[in-house]
Amino acid sequence: QESPRLVVAVDGPSGSGKSSVSKEVARRLGAAYLDTGAMYRAVAWHCANSQVDLTDPEAVLAAAQGIELVISVDPDAERVVVGTEDITQAIREPEVTAVVSTVATNMPVRQLLVERQRQMMDTHRRIVAEGRDITTVVAPDADARVLLTASAEARMARRGIQLGGTVGEKDLKEQISGRDAKDSTVVDFMTPADGVGLVDSTELDLEQTVTAMLGEIERQAGAA
Ligand code: DC
Repeated sequence: QESPRLVVAVDGPSGSGKSSVSKEVARRLGAAYLDTGAMYRAVAWHCANSQVDLTDPEAVLAAAQGIELVISVDPDAERVVVGTEDITQAIREPEVTAVVSTVATNMPVRQLLVERQRQMMDTHRRIVAEGRDITTVVAPDADARVLLTASAEARMARRGIQLGGTVGEKDLKEQISGRDAKDSTVVDFMTPADGVGLVDSTELDLEQTVTAMLGEIERQAGAA
C-alpha cells in the first residue's frame, strides 16, 4: 500500500539542529529532503566564483537567474552541483557562510528561489523542506509545519563555541548571531506563525528531538 502524500515544513535559526533533525525525520517518513539554505549558499558560491559584485543587488539577481543548479533531495546523499562543478563541500566553507546573508536578504532573489523550491516540492509526494521561511512563505499550506528552536547557549555550544571563550570563539559567536540578526530582517524564524508547532531542542539530544518532531508532525498531519 502506498503511503499518503505528506509535505512537512521546518524552520529555525542556525544551530537549532534543523538540518540533521530534518534529514533523519525525512528518512523515518520515507520522504525526500530539501535543504533550502543550500540553494542560497549555492548562489553565494556562484557569485564569489564568477566575479559577481555581491554589493550589487541586480548583479546578484542576474547571477541567480542564470545559475544551473542541481540539488539532490535524497536525505542520504547530499549533493549540490552548479554547472559541472560539485560544490557540496564548498558551500559549507566559511567564505561562503560569511557572504550568504547578502544573497538571502535580496528580495528578488528570494522570490526566484522560493518559486524553485515550490516547484521541487510539487514533484515529490513526500518531502521534508527546511529553511527560514518554509512554514510561512514557501509552503504555508504544508501538512505539518514546525519551528525548531534552541536557546542561544545551546545553539552556540552545538557549533563548538564556548560563550566567554577565546577571542576566536567570540568572533565566531558574533558571526553566527550577526547572520541570524541580518537574516531576521527579511523573515521571522524565531517565533512560530499561526498554526506552526514549536519544538524546543535546548534540553534534547538528536534522537529526542527527532521523536518530538515526529510527534508534532503526527499531531498536525495525522498518522503519516
Ligand atoms: O541554513 P543555512 O545556514 O544553510 O542557510 C544559509 C543562509 O540562507 C542563511 O543566511 C539563512 C538563509 N536562508 C534563508 O534566508 N531562507 C531559507 N529558506 C534558507 C536559508
